[in-house]
Amino acid sequence: MIGRDLLGIEDLDRADLERILETAERMQEVGTREVKKVPTLRGRTIVNLFFEPSTRTRTSFEIAGKRLSADVVNFSPTSSSLTKDESILDTARTLDAMAPDAVVVRHKVAGVPKRIADALAAPVINAGDGAHEHPTQALLDLLTVYQEKGRIDGLSVTIVGDVLHSRVARSNIYGFLKLGAEVRVAAPPTLIPPAIETLGVKAFTSLREALDGADVVMALRIQRERLDGAYVPSIREYSATFGLDRTKLRFAKDDAIVMHPGPVNRGVELSHDLADHRPSVILDQVRNGVALRMAVLYLFAGRPVAAAQEG
Ligand code: NCD
Repeated sequence: MIGRDLLGIEDLDRADLERILETAERMQEVGTREVKKVPTLRGRTIVNLFFEPSTRTRTSFEIAGKRLSADVVNFSPTSSSLTKDESILDTARTLDAMAPDAVVVRHKVAGVPKRIADALAAPVINAGDGAHEHPTQALLDLLTVYQEKGRIDGLSVTIVGDVLHSRVARSNIYGFLKLGAEVRVAAPPTLIPPAIETLGVKAFTSLREALDGADVVMALRIQRERLDGAYVPSIREYSATFGLDRTKLRFAKDDAIVMHPGPVNRGVELSHDLADHRPSVILDQVRNGVALRMAVLYLFAGRPVAAAQEG
């Protein structure tokens, strides 16, 4: 994978996914050491180019790069002029002249990481583009489910919420299907993309039906700024119908786990209780995000001969 871009889960095959997950499991050990650092990417430069705000994704890429001994530079352009295609490409070319070894890109417009990848020699890792893909989020979700359940194949995964605007949902749909799970989505009809079933998922407007027999329940953030009025009558009604709490969770399997990519609107898509306690695994997702991003940086931006165990 060295030198390839990671733009979406759509572009990966089962063997790629398994390789990334296995490497992430090895990287987890580094996080348990007293000195949480290996020299794998020493002398390499990783640029975090975040055009859109982010807490956990940016921080976890930064920690991941530092645990691998890379030099990590954060570039967070705020100016709206940088949303224009020309200026984005200028930024990319300027960066390219500084010879980074990998560039991690987040942008609110779908396709920008690809445009930047086309203009850059270095591998580009997509950290979320519009409503398109968020591949490392899906990979850390796959890792979390694999470690909780011991398998992905044959599991039933239900994604609940604003699927229409969610890059997390899209990447997870590709990832879980490629690894043999069954995927369902549940939302009010206005929040289900019209052609979603062509991806191979089943769409439900009844939460109860969607949860029946689910091993994994993934809640998505309600993007209040987008929802008010236009898509659902009110946040309160959304929450009453699709907000997860222990009562609604009874429709899923007894040992179902609950996931959320964060940031959580407590009391909206998840009850306070579920946001903080098992069966929710939200903090495991965050923890796994560091090891997973170490694996991605190593596999896509590492030296061919370097080994994760080095040092
Ligand atoms: C998500 C994102 O930004 O796509 N968050 C994340 O990366 N953990 C989901 C969201 O913002 O709702």
